[in-house]
Amino acid sequence: MSICMPPHSVTIVADLPQHRKSQSVHARHCSGRLKMSTSTLSLASRTKLANGLSIPTIHLGVYLTSGNETSQAVRYALEAGYRAVDSAQMYHNEKESGKAVLDFLASEDNTQSLRREDIHFTSKLASNTAYDTARKAIKQSVKECGLGYIDLFLLHSPYGGKKARLDSWRAVEDAIQDGEVKIGGVSNYGVKHLQELLDSRPRTPPAVNQIEIHPFNTRFDITSFCQKHDIVVEAYAPLVRAMRMKHPTIVSLSKKYACTPGQLLVRWSLQHGFVPLPKSVKKERIVENSQIGGFEIEEADMKTMDGLDEYLVTDWDPTDCP
Ligand SMILES: NC(=O)c1ccc[n+]([C@@H]2O[C@H](COP(=O)([O-])OP(=O)(O)OC[C@H]3O[C@@H](n4cnc5c(N)ncnc54)[C@H](OP(=O)(O)O)[C@@H]3O)[C@@H](O)[C@H]2O)c1
Repeated sequence: MSICMPPHSVTIVADLPQHRKSQSVHARHCSGRLKMSTSTLSLASRTKLANGLSIPTIHLGVYLTSGNETSQAVRYALEAGYRAVDSAQMYHNEKESGKAVLDFLASEDNTQSLRREDIHFTSKLASNTAYDTARKAIKQSVKECGLGYIDLFLLHSPYGGKKARLDSWRAVEDAIQDGEVKIGGVSNYGVKHLQELLDSRPRTPPAVNQIEIHPFNTRFDITSFCQKHDIVVEAYAPLVRAMRMKHPTIVSLSKKYACTPGQLLVRWSLQHGFVPLPKSVKKERIVENSQIGGFEIEEADMKTMDGLDEYLVTDWDPTDCP
């Protein structure tokens, strides 16, 4: 399957902490590619959402990390210039993630005088059941992370059935209204789940759909729907969980662009206009995965990478659940 998306407008807002933000760069998405020089993309880049807010364009993923490992990874990432952390109730590391953010902000390593609002924190609802349960769980996440509010809160999956999905979404909307959450979104939603949510005429439409996406699982069906409806696609497992680092095409293109396989995969995601969430607990890889400026994958090579699709699911795939 090759990714060929309809024309779509993606805005990347450059480079300053939120409270000092002033510059913006507009990028036009055409045929699934960002039609601009993306060689200036960096950890400071931000992606604009349909609701007018923006989020960092690259986030550190912290799935399958716990305790001190999480604290260290988040600290390394913030020191390297990452400004976003992707956690979840199910990861059991909201507390460590939030504390690592606060510790960094209070430390002398915070040379840019960053404040809470300059760091983006995502969490996700563990399961969709009833409105009250979801509402309480969101409040618990806010308490657990210690950050005062959550920037982006997602329904982690569409499991639970229609009523549970829509009731849980109402809880997210109310959490936004009450200031506990800034932005609401979904994760692992297939087209039918997104359509169901949009058909319910929500007060707040989902700003983001976080799904597994990389050259070996491109999900054009979902990404094209999202782009049509101004829903930003966050790409999880952007490094294919390290399962295809030695794939001959990845190795040969990495040589061509004088980058590492990890950097090539993150670039592919960025050039499609996605928000990638590369995960590592190792300082040198956290830095490596973010050094994605200075080169641009040519159109023909993007197509070659799109053609690697084999619907490789690295974790779970709830996108077709009832
Ligand atoms: N919404 C969802 O259902 C969902 C599902 C899965 C993931 N996610 C989110 O997306 C994030 C990323 O996905 P992921 O963690 O599954 O997979 P990933 O980011 O594609 O890959 C992570 C794996 O790659 C290794 N790695 C990292 N950088 C590398 C490099 N430069 N060279 C070689 N290996 C490297 C990591 O090992 P080390 O840590 O040892 O470096 C780890 O084993 C998660 O952490 C989570 O935040 C969301």
